[in-house]
Amino acid sequence: MQYVSTRGQTRPHTFTEAVAAGLAPDGGLFLPELLPDLSGHAAGWAGLDYAGLAAAFLSVFGTDIDRAEWEHLTRQAYGGFDHPEVAPLVALDERTFVLELFHGPTLAFKDFALQLLGLLYKRQVARTGQRLSVLGATSGDTGSAAIHGCLGQEGITIYILYPEGRVSPLQERQMACTGAANVHALCVPGTFDDAQRVVKEAFGDAAFAAEVNLSAVNSINIARVLAQCVYYLWAWLRLPEAARAGGVDFVVPTGNFGNVLAGWLVQQMGLLPGARFRVATNRNDILHRFFTTGTYEQGAVDASHAPSMDIQAASNFERFLFFLLDRDPARTRAAMAEMKTTGQFRLGAPPATTLLSSRLDDPGIAATISDVWHRYRYTVDPHTACGFTGMDPARASVVLATAHPAKFPEVVRAATGTEPTHPTLEALKARPLERRPLPADTDAVKAYIRKFRQIGG
Ligand SMILES: Cc1ncc(COP(=O)(O)O)c(C=O)c1O
Repeated sequence: MQYVSTRGQTRPHTFTEAVAAGLAPDGGLFLPELLPDLSGHAAGWAGLDYAGLAAAFLSVFGTDIDRAEWEHLTRQAYGGFDHPEVAPLVALDERTFVLELFHGPTLAFKDFALQLLGLLYKRQVARTGQRLSVLGATSGDTGSAAIHGCLGQEGITIYILYPEGRVSPLQERQMACTGAANVHALCVPGTFDDAQRVVKEAFGDAAFAAEVNLSAVNSINIARVLAQCVYYLWAWLRLPEAARAGGVDFVVPTGNFGNVLAGWLVQQMGLLPGARFRVATNRNDILHRFFTTGTYEQGAVDASHAPSMDIQAASNFERFLFFLLDRDPARTRAAMAEMKTTGQFRLGAPPATTLLSSRLDDPGIAATISDVWHRYRYTVDPHTACGFTGMDPARASVVLATAHPAKFPEVVRAATGTEPTHPTLEALKARPLERRPLPADTDAVKAYIRKFRQIGG
């Protein structure tokens, strides 16, 4: 299996090469050259445990890693989750299901991809003998999950930029209290989009990227998207037949469009027949507006109760656009150029796909957390709450629970009257916080990385 860029000006890469590069050298995003038809595999995969299913699925895409090694990698990646099923599917009633994706070390769905990516990086260092500088920007959860995937790994130094005052205090602690020498959590002024711009510019400097052996950890890495595909399939295989028969809506709290893209891609491979995917946004509703009007128009980013979704420049959108534009790299390049200069892209009409969308503002998030608690005695975090609106009563809904409620205790306490806790987070509160401020400036970040590289980082 080879990987090509959405912009069409990069030679085909192997899986290992595409993972190491992160962003394609032409500025585009990697995708499999052809999406395989996996419809014949579902029945054979039904009896596998989570790590087994992940190995079976990922070995179709990472063909330069053998199946036994994939088994080893996925058992290691998911072995540390605190639930035997890794991603339990909880039935709230016969039509409403929650796929709990918060049982990894940082209590958010990002662990599914980043525990694995940390191991793929480790494999790369062992293969090439070259130290790796991993760089990423975070709106909260990616950073901590990436850091925990790379924690203490020999030959890897990780630099994560996060917007000052825009991640929750606990998310900041998860990044800046590790005490690990190979971890640099850097707080920059502005929003997530400012941090992401700096990261993109650093990668855009090919000489710098080569000098420090830079690798991207944001949701643009194809390994992340593929790792996230697995839990859609896992949930599908676990749904009762009656729920599946009436049609299934996967409801996905969305910011960067990485998570929901993964589900939609699984369907393009002939799996999840009849399913729809709902892009559930908070008040930063650029994607909801796109799916209802066909116009993608960037606006200001407003702070919300669901801070990890406070995004107006969805990095993975380009992959979806590539498919919408008939996989034509020239049209994708033109659309991305238009977006860069005007902040807009017009399709002319809402796209005809299995994707739907919804939006929930802060009062709606608070009311929904309270409502779900009173109706089901089940606590959802503010991101997951964005999914509990606009359910189609005629179909089954699988809401992806993307973070543990204890990561956002204030909002949840105000809505339910009970403060959610988790032992991992309680332990963090006692640790010293190492806040490292930097300007949101590419040269400053490059100088910081160079400095640590020189002293062996
Ligand atoms: C808790 C949580 N929910 C949802 C999202 C949105 O996921 P994505 O950015 O892949 O759309 C994120 C991260 O951005 C998150 O941290």
